[in-house]
Amino acid sequence: RTVAVLAGGLSHEREVSLRSGRRLAASLRKTGLSVVEWDADASLLGRIRSERPDAVAIALHGGEGENGSVQAVLDLLGVPFVGTPAAACRRAWDKPTAKAELQRAGLTTPDWVALPHSTFREFGAQAVLGAMVERLGLPLMVKPDQGGSALGAQVVRDEADLPAAMVSCLAYADTVLAERFVVGTEVAVAVVHDGAEPRALPPVEVDAAGGVYDYTARYTPGATTFHCPARLDPATVDALQDAALAAHGLLGLRDVSRLDAVVDEEGRVQILEVNVSPGLTDTSLLPTAAAADGIELGDLYAALVERAVE
Ligand code: DAL
Ligand code: MG
Repeated sequence: RTVAVLAGGLSHEREVSLRSGRRLAASLRKTGLSVVEWDADASLLGRIRSERPDAVAIALHGGEGENGSVQAVLDLLGVPFVGTPAAACRRAWDKPTAKAELQRAGLTTPDWVALPHSTFREFGAQAVLGAMVERLGLPLMVKPDQGGSALGAQVVRDEADLPAAMVSCLAYADTVLAERFVVGTEVAVAVVHDGAEPRALPPVEVDAAGGVYDYTARYTPGATTFHCPARLDPATVDALQDAALAAHGLLGLRDVSRLDAVVDEEGRVQILEVNVSPGLTDTSLLPTAAAADGIELGDLYAALVERAVE
């Protein structure tokens, strides 16, 4: 079989995606599959039509790789792919939409507001920010409503820092998502559907050296310590895995996903978001969880490829 690994693209996470793609391609080759690596640029559609790989594995992050665009084109061409269908990508990629769906289903996510750029212009930035702080308190987690790898995301402890945080956020998206900042243990739980049913891998606890799991902490080897197994009691581990499986099912995610959450000081699972295209770099969370579970990344994705072409 020939599998095309898609990476790169034009999103802010291009560099991360290229690292994910290289790692995924190398891991898949070790399983004996024939693998081609393609950049997701304007030539992609023609290339897929002319070379018709048996399956596509998406290692794109951000933008068109996660918002459903690439998935819609693959569907259009009738090419099987590993990953979530377009409509569910759109829901999961938009953090406020995903949070609202999860909350409606009884899952817990930090209280939030989503404010389009235009609200600041039309109602006055000071007035809007003041109302936001009144509603959510401080500190706040401020992030682009759509995005990844913590780009544009910031913890704001002092109201005076809010305008600058908004500006960096709006450099990445047109809508700001402000969340109540949750103190606790940061954890990621991957879900993989490599057998009969989706299953949750062991939660990975994130311990960023500087206390903030930002872009540098994510992609600088050694900047973050991962604990897997997480230093959590078995009931919390169960709750995390249940939440990850529930979110995967509720949002219609397929094959692979990763839930990011904080276990707050009362031991509750506070869901931050789900990812339809989890990072696969050497410092990413899903490969760490897979290793702890005793499964090679290549074997895992080879099983997903098999499911996709069935
Ligand atoms: N957005 C990055 C790639 C992640 O979720 O791992
Ligand atoms: Mg993300």
